[in-house]
Amino acid sequence: MNKLTASVVGGGMGGRLSLQALARSSRFELVAVTDMRPAVCAELEPLFPGLRTFTDHAAMFAECPTDVVCVSTWPPSHEPVTMAALELPLRGILVEKPLADTAAAGARILAAIRAKALPMAVPHNLLAKRTPLEVIARVRQGAIGALKLVEIQCRRWDIMNAGIHWLNFFVNLVGEEPLDWVMAICEASTRTFRDGMQVETTAVTYVQARSGIRCVMNTGDDVPLNAEANGTLFRLVGTGGQIEFRGFEHGYRILNTERPAGEWVTPAEFDVTGHQRHLEQMADRIETGTPDYRIPESSLRALEICEGAYLSSRHRCKVTFPFDAFTVPAEPDWDPGRPYSGEGGGRDGRRLDG
Ligand SMILES: NC(=O)c1ccc[n+]([C@@H]2O[C@H](COP(=O)([O-])OP(=O)(O)OC[C@H]3O[C@@H](n4cnc5c(N)ncnc54)[C@H](O)[C@@H]3O)[C@@H](O)[C@H]2O)c1
Repeated sequence: MNKLTASVVGGGMGGRLSLQALARSSRFELVAVTDMRPAVCAELEPLFPGLRTFTDHAAMFAECPTDVVCVSTWPPSHEPVTMAALELPLRGILVEKPLADTAAAGARILAAIRAKALPMAVPHNLLAKRTPLEVIARVRQGAIGALKLVEIQCRRWDIMNAGIHWLNFFVNLVGEEPLDWVMAICEASTRTFRDGMQVETTAVTYVQARSGIRCVMNTGDDVPLNAEANGTLFRLVGTGGQIEFRGFEHGYRILNTERPAGEWVTPAEFDVTGHQRHLEQMADRIETGTPDYRIPESSLRALEICEGAYLSSRHRCKVTFPFDAFTVPAEPDWDPGRPYSGEGGGRDGRRLDG
């Protein structure tokens, strides 16, 4: 198969992961990049010799259309950039996580790509690393009994920008299980922004699957980890054991009846980066004409949890799934933790029968 020509919109951290993957892969010919900041274009030119640079994606699409476009800007511009890219005679598209700044925009992006039956990549790199993939497989095989709880401790990042990777892992771990609801509290004392979004300083997100499996995620600027780990700790608790691993690091610790003292397992890593793996899997799909939307769909479900968490915190409510059927309820005139005056209605919580 001829190499697929490729371009990238957004030359920051995410865009560079795609640029490097495209430059290294024998399946692609990296042609052009757009970044609205000329200084970023000037930085990228010597790193990728022959790369054409633009400061406006419309100009790049007009002058230099490619088979594949990677949308690697901040989430609020993913929708307009993707919709413009879809006007090209594209053969495949990568849209960075989160698909968009809202689940509704993410759903529109996915629907427009599906309508063209276009192969798509969403580079959730826990799904392109051996450790998390092996953890999913072992949990499904029952290595820790029935899964009950996924605990995530994530330092320095937030629900939307890294948390979505972790929630996407949870969605893939529980497979087809429907989710019941999400609740969260976000405090914003440091007024932190990241990747074009206002985010929490500290948050706790609690998701419950209808089967009863819980995911509890603590994110934020200064979340202490209660294990020897930097970055992100995952702790999976089942009826017959426990697995711990760190986001994006090799190896996991499994403790179960066969390994009562716990054992470190370090699977051999894939020899390409996560972005390269996702892009090359998309190239396979282009070659065989068989788009596969399982990862994009799971990314949308994770985005629904992210938005649900922020809505829950903003409106003091439980956000139920399916998310597209949820509407924010009126805030109750009730303040948990305050004394009850004895009048004004309400439900008598001592009546345990309902
Ligand atoms: N999958 C991953 O592992 C991974 C890793 C890092 C970032 N990302 C994602 O990549 C996206 C970008 O984040 P980042 O970390 O690269 O941010 P960044 O701040 O490092 O870079 C974003 C770049 O995009 C440019 N840009 C923004 N809007 C643009 C527009 N409309 N047209 C042209 N250029 C534009 C900015 O000038 C900047 O250089 C986000 O969605 C983020 O979540 C994914």
